[in-house]
Amino acid sequence: MDKKIVPYKKTVFVCTNVRADGRVACGNPGRGGLELCAALKDAVKDKGLKGKIRVARAGCLDLCAQGPNAFLYPDGEWLSGVTAADVPEILKKLTE
Ligand code: FES
Repeated sequence: MDKKIVPYKKTVFVCTNVRADGRVACGNPGRGGLELCAALKDAVKDKGLKGKIRVARAGCLDLCAQGPNAFLYPDGEWLSGVTAADVPEILKKLTE
């Protein structure tokens, strides 16, 4: 294995997990996880932050009922109940 320096200043992991069996999941229709991820990606691109901030789709982060969930790295900040309306605030956190 090769050890490398993290290529991004910050990363936001967004749960986009989908469950087709009726159990709650951040990426299920109406939950908003997929829309949140897309809105964050668009905002990062629009602000010219691509290559500095990475928006990464994540699988289940295990707090499903509180989702959509996101996790900021390396800040260690966990966000629950996040919507696309929170994107400006999240971007602010990522650029501080
Ligand atoms: S489905 Fe998002 S935290 Fe479990």
